[in-house]
Amino acid sequence: MQQTKLLSVIDPERDAGNIRAAADILVLGGLVAIPTETVYGLAADALNPDAVRGIYVAKGRPSDNPMIVHISDVEMLALLAREVPSDAVKLAKAFWPGPLTMVLPKADIVPLVTTGGLDTVAVRLPAHPVAQAIIREAGVPLAAPSANLSGRPSPTTAQHCINDLTGRVHAVVDSGECSVGVESTVVCFRNGRVCLLRPGAVTIEQLEGIVGAVETDRAVSGRAVDGRSVLSPGMKYRHYAPNARVILVTGDSSRYVRFVNSNKTNGVFALCFDEDVAGLEVPYVSYGDGADPAAQAHRLFGALRELDIRGARLVYAHSPSQEGMGQAVYNRLIRAAAFRMVRT
Ligand code: TXA
Ligand code: MG
Repeated sequence: MQQTKLLSVIDPERDAGNIRAAADILVLGGLVAIPTETVYGLAADALNPDAVRGIYVAKGRPSDNPMIVHISDVEMLALLAREVPSDAVKLAKAFWPGPLTMVLPKADIVPLVTTGGLDTVAVRLPAHPVAQAIIREAGVPLAAPSANLSGRPSPTTAQHCINDLTGRVHAVVDSGECSVGVESTVVCFRNGRVCLLRPGAVTIEQLEGIVGAVETDRAVSGRAVDGRSVLSPGMKYRHYAPNARVILVTGDSSRYVRFVNSNKTNGVFALCFDEDVAGLEVPYVSYGDGADPAAQAHRLFGALRELDIRGARLVYAHSPSQEGMGQAVYNRLIRAAAFRMVRT
């Protein structure tokens, strides 16, 4: 592929020229990394099979891993989904635009390549004004997985996208840091219930506040590797992985710090909380306050990338609380650690 254009958009109105440039590339079947409030997405026209095939190639992504389709208005949902259960309508009213993805029966217009061969389609209306402006200007729904090379931590800045995808995509739209920092909550609807497939910024408690009891798919907590038992195929791949070997370490600050200090060897880094920093005798990257899961979500993927850049070989990560949004942070980190854990 030729050069990757960098298109800066601070304000969609003031930078309308770059919004149009991004939309023009997409309408012609090209690939553009775009900001959303969760992570950057690698976008293509969701209704153009050749364009969507390009996403799999650029990311090195297995082609049975389906994409999330992004829309700019709730009305676009009727184009993509054959059927919208009443719980989905309620959740859309409560959380869209925002970090919630709903898996629904797909309409014929959605190509199978977009859904990884499934007869369902995952749909999200992102809250980021730049994402909305690009979708609106392109006039088509955009398929967009996270804009990282497959297996790498999701990108939360344009620089992360550039590092992974330069020369592989037509453009990267730079709108600064993503506010949420982890990918959207994914739900499906089965047996009249809402079922959580991937935790995110919209928590179980928030979902239950709207639709009552919510099921949790076992892929969320367990290490589902049997393809047939996995409802959300993305969960079965090694994910969010830095080059270093990551091990999750439980315990309060003093127990964590004592464990890390007594296991220091060359190449050991701590992925810690702010309150751990003072006691540590090894190099570290902090991913926020131990009591603030939103801050941890915001910083986690950038911290994993920084550890790689600094040459970490073994990373002891302080395990987060699983309360509220902590569930999403824990879910990403336990996968980065390939489920390796030490209890102190
Ligand atoms: O926040 C996000 O969701 C970001 C931004 C760019 O919107 N996108 C994202 O996409 O995280 P991706 O491709 O990295 O993750 C999509 C997840 C995967 O776990 C995938 O298996 C699941 O959604 N998914 C997509 N379509 C599905 C379907 N039809 N049925 C079940 N799971 C589906
Ligand atoms: Mg991803």
